[in-house]
Amino acid sequence: TSLTDQAVDPVFEALVRERLDSIEERLKETARAQTAFTTDAAQHLLSAGGKRFRPLLVVLASQLYPGAEPSAIDRAAIVMELTHVASLYHDDVMDEADMRRGVPSANSRWDNTVAIMVGDFLFARASSTVATLGTEYVMLQAETFARLVQGQIAETRGAGDESDGLDHYLDVIADKTGSLIAASTVFGGMVCGAPADVLDALAAYGEEIGVVFQLSDDLLDIASDASGKVPGTDLREGVPTLPVLMLRASARPGDERLLDLTSRPLDDEDEVAEALAALRAHRVMDEARAEVGRRAEVARGYLSRLPEGPAREALSALCDQVAFRNT
Ligand code: FPP
Ligand code: MG
Ligand code: MG
Repeated sequence: TSLTDQAVDPVFEALVRERLDSIEERLKETARAQTAFTTDAAQHLLSAGGKRFRPLLVVLASQLYPGAEPSAIDRAAIVMELTHVASLYHDDVMDEADMRRGVPSANSRWDNTVAIMVGDFLFARASSTVATLGTEYVMLQAETFARLVQGQIAETRGAGDESDGLDHYLDVIADKTGSLIAASTVFGGMVCGAPADVLDALAAYGEEIGVVFQLSDDLLDIASDASGKVPGTDLREGVPTLPVLMLRASARPGDERLLDLTSRPLDDEDEVAEALAALRAHRVMDEARAEVGRRAEVARGYLSRLPEGPAREALSALCDQVAFRNT
C-alpha cells in the first residue's frame, strides 16, 4: 500500500510489509464458510481490494514497542478489517449503493438478504478471532460495535431540530468511523504491551485520524469519479456532509439553488449532477479541505506522547496522506 511509502526505515518497511502480506492471506481464510456460495459472497468485498487502512494502523502501532507476537498482530488486524468489511455489507444496503471497491456491492450483485447475512457472518468470524486475543480485546471490540451501530442510527435519524447540524455530523462520524479506527490503533498498542498513557494517546490519535478519514471520504463522494464508489451517494440519501453544512452556515446570495438541492434526498439524476457540479466549483469545498487539514494536525499532535521511532514517524506521515487522499 502507498500509505507506507513515506516510512523512512527500510527494515521497518519490510517488517510492516511482511505482516500485511500475512494478514491478507489469513483474512481470506477467516472468511471461508460451509458452502462455496457463502465463501464467495463473504470474500467478495475482501477480494475487491480496499486500502486495509485499519490493519495498517494495527501493524504500525504494534511496532511502538518491541516484542509483539506476529500472530497476535495479525489476528488483531483481522478483527478490525472483518468488522469494517461487515459494516460495509450492511452500509451498502442502507445506502442503496450499487458499487464498492470498484465492484458491484453485495446487495446489487446478489440481494439485500445475502448482503445482510454475509455481513453478520463476517462479524461472527471477527468475534471468534477476537476471542483468541483475550477479554480486554473482546470488551473493546464490543464497545466499538455498539458505537458503530449508534453512529449509523444517529445518521439515519438525522440531526432533528434541537441539535446543531455540524455537531451532529461530527458526532456521527466519530462513532461510525472514528471508533473503529481508534480501536485499531489501541489494539496495536495492546499487542505490544504499551502502557496506559500511550494507549490513551493512541485512542485519541485514532479517533481523530478516523474523523479525518471519514471527512475526506465524504469530500471524495462529491469530488471524485474514481473512488470505486458511485459519487453523489450522500446527496441522493440527503445526508449533509461537511461542505454542505459549511454552506448552510455561510450561505450568500446566489447559493439558494444549491441550498435547496442539498436540503432533501435527490432521486432525479439530473439534480444529482447539478448539485455535484455546483458543489465542486463552490468555495466551501476549499474551506472544507482546509478544515480537514487542520484536524489532521490535531491528530498528529497526540503522537508526541508516543515513543519516538519509525512507527511514530509512519503514523505521522499518515496524517497528510489521509487528509489529502484521492481514493
Ligand atoms: C460507511 O459510511 C459505514 C460505516 C462507517 C459504518 C456503518 C455501521 C454499520 C453498518 C453498523 C455495523 C455493523 C456491523 C455488522 C459491524 P458511509 O456510508 O458514509 O461511507 P461509504 O462512502 O464508504 O459508503
Ligand atoms: Mg455508504
Ligand atoms: Mg452510510
